[in-house]
Amino acid sequence: MHGVAEDPYRDERLVQLYDLDNAAGDDHVYYRALADEIEAKKILDFGCGTGLLTRTFARTGRVVIGVDPSPTMLGYARKQPGAEAVTWIDGDASAVDGTGDMDLVVSSGNTMMHLSPETYPSVLGSLSGALRPGGVISFESRNPAARAWEQWTRDATYSERDTPAGHLREWIDVTESDHGRVVFDAHNVFPDGSDAVYTTTLYFRTASEITADLEHAGFTDIAVHGGWHHEPPLGNSRLLVVRATKR
Ligand SMILES: C[S@@+](CC[C@H](N)C(=O)[O-])C[C@H]1O[C@@H](n2cnc3c(N)ncnc32)[C@H](O)[C@@H]1O
Repeated sequence: MHGVAEDPYRDERLVQLYDLDNAAGDDHVYYRALADEIEAKKILDFGCGTGLLTRTFARTGRVVIGVDPSPTMLGYARKQPGAEAVTWIDGDASAVDGTGDMDLVVSSGNTMMHLSPETYPSVLGSLSGALRPGGVISFESRNPAARAWEQWTRDATYSERDTPAGHLREWIDVTESDHGRVVFDAHNVFPDGSDAVYTTTLYFRTASEITADLEHAGFTDIAVHGGWHHEPPLGNSRLLVVRATKR
């Protein structure tokens, strides 16, 4: 496995809160509508996390696979109602079988942004290897033009709330940003005063960079939208929503 050197999703207490903080929204509607539109019978959810979206793909006659390298995220996913309808695989792209028979690969929650430039091409190659010719890949990635990381300061992100894990004080703080690579610390201060700090590195890619990488990996009909409703990508579009077809 390429692995996540430091899994920023490793804290059981925070994984319990993940679905509350990242409830289903337009993103889930978009990915499910895409699966229905192409009549997908075999779906792979890459970086499926807690599986909130993954489980909703499941229905009679469909094969649904969720892959994730975080044991805490996948451990939580496996315990949720309906989890038995999904095949859960521990690992990163190296755990994805090149079966060439999947109709759809999705990667939600900006998972693709976790991939470094060194691994990104080979990951796209593995995901392409899982798809049948004519199969579709779709994912979202934050738009670098919107420069979201400039707002990721302690002052702009600080919040306090009561959670099942007790009163939580939290904020994020960027420690490095350079050519689309952004490193930030997520601070979580629990009631006992301990501050659990999780460091994440994200890679922001432009629409042209994403398109070039997908072309290189053998994809065609590449569409990059500026949101979940097929909006054109603009400078202030928060997200780039990508869809491409395997040749
Ligand atoms: C923000 S979460 C998104 C989870 C889920 N897709 C969602 O929409 O809620 C990012 C996920 O990417 C996973 N991840 C991190 N590095 C990865 C890698 N190299 N390959 C696959 N998944 C990875 C993490 O373990 C985590 O579950």
